[in-house]
Amino acid sequence: MLTTLTVPLVGLLGTAAAETIYGAVVFTRHGDRTTKHYGAQALTSLGATQNFQVGGDYRARYITAGSPKRILGISEFNYVSSQVYATAPDQGILLNTATAFLQGLYPPLQGLDPAIASQTLNNGTNSTSPLNGYQYVALQGVNNNSPDTIWIKGDDSCPAYAEAAASFDDSAEFKTRLAETKSFYEGFYPDVQSVFDYKSPSDLSYAKAYDIFDLINVARIHNATSPARDVTDEQLFQLRTLADSAEFGSNYNRSQPARSIHAETFLGGVLAQLNKTVTSAGKLKLSVMAGSYDTFQAFFGLANLTNVNPDFFGLPAYASTMAFELFSDDDEAATAFPADPDAALRVRFLFKNGTEGAMSSFPLFGSGADSLAWPDFVGQTKTRAITSAAAWCGACGSKVDFCAAYNVAEPTSSDDKGGMSNAVAGVIGAVVTLGVVGLAGGVLFLLRRRRGGSAGKGFEEKGSLHGSDKGLV
Ligand SMILES: *[C@@H]1O[C@H](CO)[C@@H](O)[C@H](O)[C@H]1NC(C)=O
Ligand SMILES: *[C@@H]1O[C@H](CO)[C@@H](O)[C@H](O)[C@H]1NC(C)=O
Ligand SMILES: *[C@@H]1O[C@H](CO)[C@@H](O)[C@H](O)[C@H]1NC(C)=O
Ligand SMILES: *[C@@H]1O[C@H](CO)[C@@H](O)[C@H](O)[C@H]1NC(C)=O
Ligand SMILES: *[C@@H]1O[C@H](CO)[C@@H](O)[C@H](O)[C@H]1NC(C)=O
Ligand SMILES: *[C@@H]1O[C@H](CO)[C@@H](O)[C@H](O)[C@H]1NC(C)=O
Ligand SMILES: *[C@@H]1O[C@H](CO)[C@@H](O)[C@H](O)[C@H]1NC(C)=O
Repeated sequence: MLTTLTVPLVGLLGTAAAETIYGAVVFTRHGDRTTKHYGAQALTSLGATQNFQVGGDYRARYITAGSPKRILGISEFNYVSSQVYATAPDQGILLNTATAFLQGLYPPLQGLDPAIASQTLNNGTNSTSPLNGYQYVALQGVNNNSPDTIWIKGDDSCPAYAEAAASFDDSAEFKTRLAETKSFYEGFYPDVQSVFDYKSPSDLSYAKAYDIFDLINVARIHNATSPARDVTDEQLFQLRTLADSAEFGSNYNRSQPARSIHAETFLGGVLAQLNKTVTSAGKLKLSVMAGSYDTFQAFFGLANLTNVNPDFFGLPAYASTMAFELFSDDDEAATAFPADPDAALRVRFLFKNGTEGAMSSFPLFGSGADSLAWPDFVGQTKTRAITSAAAWCGACGSKVDFCAAYNVAEPTSSDDKGGMSNAVAGVIGAVVTLGVVGLAGGVLFLLRRRRGGSAGKGFEEKGSLHGSDKGLV
């Protein structure tokens, strides 16, 4: 087994004798979908196929026997509920995204192993689940009134974020691009003319960069009668790169942390899930979350990935994934969870850009290293992450119902879903301190000038439930 000496040694040589993976957290974007413009976006069959395919790629890495990155002790064929935790916001497109991914992760048993797929009843009859032994992987939908909503959707119902994101429109960068691209955008009017709220060419501008890119990109793929089919690859590339910059601009600004609050909570959620794997000594093996591109972008900024590779300024392709894996480097493959996790465990970050991209590792937090020792990861994460709903309520100045609990000295019990709720429950004790934070956040919010619904904002997957955020879609 591992001694404290082997960690630096292996790090220096860069060649691990044997690596053992104990768990991972995977965050996925939806695949191809209908346009977001009307707020009723849905995963298409192509999109479901993409998420399914990527789920299969993670199966090949973490689950299939013989894979050098197989998670220690994970069930190969039968889904085991204690090993996998999957969650998505209660929004059709993201629930379906997670489902398609999970279908790839644990496909129907008939195709994997017919002997496992069928059970013989006492009267001699064989029974197989519908759809060739389809496996029902449990998926935890998270309502936006639950404190757990912040781990994946920390930007929703967060006034401080909305203000910060909208203030991108006040920046010199925004104003310059707006002016420089005016005629470029107006030229696309015929392509979006059928969209009711684009009434004249001047309605098209960099302020709507993502919306215009999205309408044209979707129409080019799906709409046989749309004039957008004549938009060239080169033009689409320009529309996309402009949308990249507008969306990144709204979701990260080093000197304005509120713009990436959703990355801070996401990082808190990742820490909570990895820590569950650690504290359960490897019982929880894989956590899957489905979320939005803006969380990817904010995280790319927050984790210093844009410094590593400027490609991180770009929108992640459909069905993109980020993974955080917990592993150890040993002289020989480990057979049990490390007795001393702090000494043995490391965390590696991977990004896979859509279905085609490779799963590549990138150094987090400007470390320059392929992986970080677990205590180091925890330390670096804690300086950046929001790890409690109470802290989020304070930072956001949010008025959502569950935030009220942190402003009164009366802890409410958090419903434990076996997932991230414990992280929330753990902090409710500190109500008094947090109440003060919450109050300060609220005052700060009142002092800020309320801006109208800004274009270019770019919430992904805004569900119809988000009444108060409608102006931003
Ligand atoms: C039931 O399934 C088992 C295992 O796949 C197989 O050996 C057996 O022949 C099947 N029995 C019937 C009645 O189909
Ligand atoms: C065997 O038992 C199951 C469950 O009671 C029943 O659905 C099935 O029809 C039975 N098969 C035969 C051949 O009796
Ligand atoms: C980033 O934030 C700073 C401080 O609020 C602001 O001055 C600057 O214009 C912002 N830059 C962008 C591109 O939004
Ligand atoms: C497809 O394009 C046509 C022509 O622009 C438009 O009238 C129609 O609404 C579009 N269909 C969809 C589903 O967007
Ligand atoms: C991990 O979870 C345990 C048990 O809930 C807790 O005591 C500990 O502080 C957590 N560690 C981190 C890094 O979150
Ligand atoms: C992912 O692919 C998109 C093109 O779809 C590109 O713009 C972006 O820069 C890529 N991101 C990374 C990190 O490679
Ligand atoms: C990483 O980014 C943070 C801001 O998010 C910045 O303060 C820090 O200097 C960066 N570190 C490196 C090594 O790039």
